Amino acid sequence: MSEPVRISLSVNGTRYERSVAPRIHLVDFLRDELGVMGARTACEHGVCGACTLRLNGELVRGCLVLAVQADGAEVETIEGASDRGDLAELQQAFHARNALQCGFCTPGMLMTASTLLEEKPDATREQVREFISGNYCRCTGYHAIVDAICDVRDSRKAAAAGRG
Ligand code: FES
Ligand code: FES
Repeated sequence: MSEPVRISLSVNGTRYERSVAPRIHLVDFLRDELGVMGARTACEHGVCGACTLRLNGELVRGCLVLAVQADGAEVETIEGASDRGDLAELQQAFHARNALQCGFCTPGMLMTASTLLEEKPDATREQVREFISGNYCRCTGYHAIVDAICDVRDSRKAAAAGRG
């Protein structure tokens, strides 16, 4: 069996140092070692998007990254993004549009949607669908999710036009 490896990383602004098994995945480390439960585990091979989180600002699948690869990194999960207020408009829009049912996919979906609106503030409905296509939802049929994301896109564009 491989020796544990010492890692140091920031998760949602808090620094942690731990000894980890070299093969433990980041999402399992967050959930099992730190009790940070927002990123979910489902397929565990990079298909469903339930484990979506940010690593040094980039969206990643937490089930495809080893905890040792996050040594020295800044990790952000739904908890941190939500506490910063980064997701407030999307959370309200998801609620208003009934864009979640069981809620299992929702943390990953919100992280992805937030990144989409930062990177492509003018995304078309088709581009929204494409961008979230790596995040599976078994409940909603996606229409309400796309509606919610497009609502936030439109309200941000209207606010920006009003300021201009
Ligand atoms: S659990 Fe990571 S992509 Fe499905
Ligand atoms: S709301 Fe249930 S999987 Fe998306």
